[in-house]
Amino acid sequence: MCGIVGYIGRNSAVDILLDGLTSLEYRGYDSSGIAVNIDGKVQLYKAAGKLQNLKDIVEKNYAEISKSTIGIGHIRWATHGAPTVENAHPHSCNCGKLAVVHNGIIENFKELKEKLEKQGCTFRSQTDTETVAHLVASKFSQTHDLTEAVRLATKEIEGAYALCVIHQDVKDTIVATRRNAPLVVGFGDGENFVASDVPALIQYTKKAMYLDDNQIVTLTPDSVKLIDIDNNPVVQKVEMLPWEPVALSKMGYKHFMLKEIHEQPDVVRNVLSGKLRAIDEPIVLKEVTLDREKLKDLNRIQIVACGTSLHAAMVGKYLIEDFCGISVDVEPSSEYIYRKTITDKNTLVIGVSQSGETADTITAVRQAKSKGSHILIVTNRPDSTMAREADSLIPVNAGIEVSVAATKSYMAQLISFYLLAIYIAEVKGVNDLRDLKHELIILPQKIEKVLAHKEDIQQCARKFSGSKDFIFIARGINFPTALEGALKLKEISYINATGYTAGELKHGPIAMLDESMPVLSILMSGKVYDKILSNSEEAKARNARMIALTDSTDPKLNELFDCIIRVPEISEILSPALAVVPLQLLAYYIAEFLGKDVDQPRNLAKSVTVE
Ligand code: M6R
Repeated sequence: MCGIVGYIGRNSAVDILLDGLTSLEYRGYDSSGIAVNIDGKVQLYKAAGKLQNLKDIVEKNYAEISKSTIGIGHIRWATHGAPTVENAHPHSCNCGKLAVVHNGIIENFKELKEKLEKQGCTFRSQTDTETVAHLVASKFSQTHDLTEAVRLATKEIEGAYALCVIHQDVKDTIVATRRNAPLVVGFGDGENFVASDVPALIQYTKKAMYLDDNQIVTLTPDSVKLIDIDNNPVVQKVEMLPWEPVALSKMGYKHFMLKEIHEQPDVVRNVLSGKLRAIDEPIVLKEVTLDREKLKDLNRIQIVACGTSLHAAMVGKYLIEDFCGISVDVEPSSEYIYRKTITDKNTLVIGVSQSGETADTITAVRQAKSKGSHILIVTNRPDSTMAREADSLIPVNAGIEVSVAATKSYMAQLISFYLLAIYIAEVKGVNDLRDLKHELIILPQKIEKVLAHKEDIQQCARKFSGSKDFIFIARGINFPTALEGALKLKEISYINATGYTAGELKHGPIAMLDESMPVLSILMSGKVYDKILSNSEEAKARNARMIALTDSTDPKLNELFDCIIRVPEISEILSPALAVVPLQLLAYYIAEFLGKDVDQPRNLAKSVTVE
């Protein structure tokens, strides 16, 4: 949530800042800005809306702006104050000599603001961040030392932040710090970088250092100095990033989301590779470092996650309970952290997160860790803050996902849960899961078949794109699929969509049904098929417009459903990994028909680093 980038060196800063912001656009995109030093003066350039608006402003003033060899930049996801130019970062103080960019939330900003106003500071924005600008400026006027000013300011700030600060009286210096928000420093030759995330650096350097909470770094073109909040020097590991610069290309697809949906067969193959070698061989999951004897005796697992990752976790619960007989609780991280949980050293706690930066989930796993639980993290970002909390780390290897709506990372999380559940069952010596292993191996071909018939889904999307509301129903292991289908639709088309367990329909939601309401039944063969069919009949009897997502070829379905989306036959237990694909496509095509910004839907961000 919000991305920050800083450059100091001998080259022009502006292109590096704009490149960095482009690769951080997934963190927010409602306004952006840069601060540079032109002829000894700090100058701010800001724009509301997409990053392109800032790029247009820069282009007009390029001759001037490109003189600067120092700069900080920001891409915003608004928390305090609307996404206007005044609220866009960087923010400055009264004298205009200082500029600050911030990712996070300053929780005590009201108290600080009151104090600073009494001292004569004039505020120009509604943001919490502007308090930091005034506070650091006031400390600087006492100390004339930017690092010390930032250090003293952070002693008074409460909340989460990654900050970068420049001041025109201290040329050739950027000071940056963090608490509960990510920040990474990149080392160059005669130049240094700082950013919220690796993609902003990787074109320029692979040598990097992740900051820990409450560390303050001072960058000049030739030096990187690190201290802690008590002014003690700190030595931090410098590592070579295992990343290649990636040209983020849509490869001919109209949107990243569509490309990422199509990558799913290969994502499944990648996740299985080296772990599921043959159906008669045990699953290899070296990443799980919990002692096998402890794993055998485990009787409680808690899984914490948010959004789409939460839906993957719900499928995981179903699998682990079914295959291994271990009781599993799944809870949104944001709820888990504000109640008394029964978590101890005998509980395995699994954190699931595509980004590895979701603040609620990080807090949840930290809480569990402090109670002695073994922490297993399932993430697409093995270099993330959450990954660094892990005792066991399962990287899901989906590759970079650009579209804000998670698709292939969900698939990778699901497949990782299948592997984990089979692995635990094998360690415990319960259940013969060879049939499932065989099905996992051939799953990519089945997904390919669904993708090959996407025109059918496109037609269905066209038919229903005018709907104001949507209901998804399912039972059992596909209830999370219904939730995920509804979430995808909401996120990118802004249609009000809700997933229900089909059996609950008659306990209230059925009151909403009439000829204007589409009901999509996830009707996969298995033990709940007949039940969902009856629930679908009940909906049809209330004149709802019926859509089936099914692997059944029963011709009788034609009478009940206005539209049928067919997928290849699959066992009920593996069906969530196939059934979700047409739902992703349905959401995609509806959003596309409605002309929505599919890859960057309003109000969302790919990485949610605030609680
Ligand atoms: O990075 P995480 O998986 O922890 O993110 C959790 C949610 O913010 C995320 O899944 C969100 O719901 C996505 N936009 C779903 O498409």
